[in-house]
Parts: sequence; structure tokens; C-alpha cells
Amino acid sequence: MKINFIDLKAQYQEYKTEIDKEVLDVFTNAQFIGGEKLNNLEANLATYTGAKHAIGCSSGTDALLLSLMALDIGAGDEVITTPFTFIATAEVIAFLGAKSVFVDIDEKTYNIDPSKIEAAITDKTKVIMPVSLYGQCADMDAINDIAIKHKLTVIEDACQSFGAEYKGKKSCNLSTIGCTSFFPSKPLGAYGDGGAIFTSDKALAEKIRMLLNHGQNERYKHKLIGINGRLDAIQAAVLNVKLKYFDKEVQARQEIGGRYSELLSQSTHTTPFVHKNGTSVYAQYSLRVKDRASVVEKLSALEIPTAVHYPMPLHLQEAFSDLGYKKGDFPLSEAVSEEIMSLPMSPYLTKEQQDFITNALKEN
Ligand SMILES: Cc1ncc(COP(=O)(O)O)c(C=O)c1O
Repeated sequence: MKINFIDLKAQYQEYKTEIDKEVLDVFTNAQFIGGEKLNNLEANLATYTGAKHAIGCSSGTDALLLSLMALDIGAGDEVITTPFTFIATAEVIAFLGAKSVFVDIDEKTYNIDPSKIEAAITDKTKVIMPVSLYGQCADMDAINDIAIKHKLTVIEDACQSFGAEYKGKKSCNLSTIGCTSFFPSKPLGAYGDGGAIFTSDKALAEKIRMLLNHGQNERYKHKLIGINGRLDAIQAAVLNVKLKYFDKEVQARQEIGGRYSELLSQSTHTTPFVHKNGTSVYAQYSLRVKDRASVVEKLSALEIPTAVHYPMPLHLQEAFSDLGYKKGDFPLSEAVSEEIMSLPMSPYLTKEQQDFITNALKEN
């Protein structure tokens, strides 16, 4: 049975007529940067999340970078985040000369554990950057309370959680800034790189818009040192079509995620925990298995693709060796990274495919 880890081809067939028309429209109008498609997307994204401002940008990485730049984060500053995430989260902190201070994860959700954050705050701390891992938000109320108490800013790394809800509000609109990614494999994926930044703070939004366009406030008037961090019109056109059908796709993802957990409830594996205060968009369906190498091998022999998000927590990565962390510093992140594995997930996964995958897993 042929199973794709993520079925982007099936998705394209579903929306082909509309996507082709919108993309060809960009070619015909030759408005490749900025313009109506991008303006429409930004308005639609703002409406979708409830944030006052949605700003398209070149990637999730740049969304995080631009957010930190907008807060003037640099040398001497500390940003608290989780070591159990994709490298981009901490990479942008280091890129600006600031320091990542890691805090271990919650055993159930694998998101940053708010009860451990205050112990990591110093007089250099400026930002808390929780990651909404696998499509489920961190405990944002608890994190925002700590930030208010210590006068810090919260940036949600929502690169995996666009569409998720936390206490009835949408991810990306749960703190001062939210950042998402439209990398093709994300729940809302473009046809290339892309991302967006969300805020309800007008001054921050204006600064971010300047920063992503070489710090310009008028053509060739550069008020700030910025970058080229724009989202192009072709990506905006594709995203506009996909956003129309996004809720339907999220629902399908949730049904598939729920069904996986049901089918695996009697197995020895630990299925994802979704907190009752919110929802997950299952950017990944990731479970803990005791003997991962042999499970992966057995599934692979049946041509079932799997992935590991993520095999090594950031504090043990060579690139962050200057931070001075060592094995044992974040035991939960380390334990989960040794056992976690992701199963095929897309709104187009059929029941037959899911049965095949879960039967193979139950035999392990
Ligand atoms: C948690 C997290 N942060 C940041 C990023 C970076 O996003 P992008 O690949 O769009 O730069 C990703 C995407 O892979 C991610 O999963």
C-alpha cells in the first residue's frame, strides 16, 4: 500500500482549478511582490486569527527573527525557550547575538513547562518564546502571567500550530507576537517558503513591516537596518485559496489524529496528549515508542514512512555548545527525543491506510 508521509499531491488535485487560476493571475498581472494578493491574504489571516495585524513574510524563521528585531533583542539579552523544538527557534536568538536560556518541557504536552520558567529569569531576560509543538499551544495564560509579572514580552513560535485553539482563541493571537510558518508541509502550507507575524500592537506591526522591507518607511528612505523578508505574491495567491478550505482540513486532521489515538489506545505506545483547554492541528502525529529504531525499521519494511521530530534536543547540538549545557540538564526533553516518532499525517490519509499503519504498530 502506497502511503505518503504528507499528501501534498492529493491536496493540489483537490484545489487545482482555483490554485491554477490564482497563480496564473499573478503571472498575467505581473505583480510579483506585494499587491492585492498579499493584502487580501493578510486581511484574511488577521480575520482568521483575530489578531489586529497579520504580516506576511518569507518564512517562519524570518517571522521569529523579525519579531526579535522589532523588540531590539541583541547582545546581552536572554530569551527563554524550550530545547525540544526545531533549530530555527533558538537559531534566530543566537543570530542576533542574544542567548537562549532553555527550560524543560511538560511531560504530557512536550511544550515548555511554565512552572520552571521563573527559575530561569535573570535581569537580562527580555522575551519568553514558547513553541506550540506538533500543533498544540503551550499553556499561554500561565506564560503570559509570568511575562506580565517580570515585564517580559511573549513571542509564540506558532510555526506548527496555525489553526489551533487555546481557551477558545486562535494560536498566533495569544501573546504580544505570534509567528507561523507556511513551509509546504505545515498544516497551512505554501508552494515554497513563507510565514506570517501576528500582533495587535500597531507600533510593533509598523516596525515589523519596515524591518522586512530593508527598514524602509518610504521608498529608498531607510529608517532601520532590516532584511528582505517579504512574502511573494505567488505564495500569497496559493495560501488565499488554501485558507478558504483550511477549517475543513483541520477538522479532517483532528478526526485522523483522534482515530490514530483510538486505534492505538491498547498498544504499549504513548499517544499524543491533547489538553482539554484547546485543540491540536496535528502538524505532526507524534507518539512515544520504547524501541524506536526497531519500530521504524519494521514500519519501513512495510513501506510506511516515519520521521523523528526531533532526535536531539537543542542544548546538545554542536551549534549551541557555547551555551555550556550538558547531557542531563533537561531530562524530559532528552527522554522524549529518544522515543518520539511521527506517523504519516495529512487530511487525505484514508481509513484503510490508517488501519494498515496502526496494525503494523500494534504488532510492535
Ligand atoms: C517550531 C518551528 N519553529 C520555526 C520553524 C521555521 O519555519 P520555516 O521553515 O518556515 O523557516 C519551524 C518549521 O519547520 C518550526 O517547526
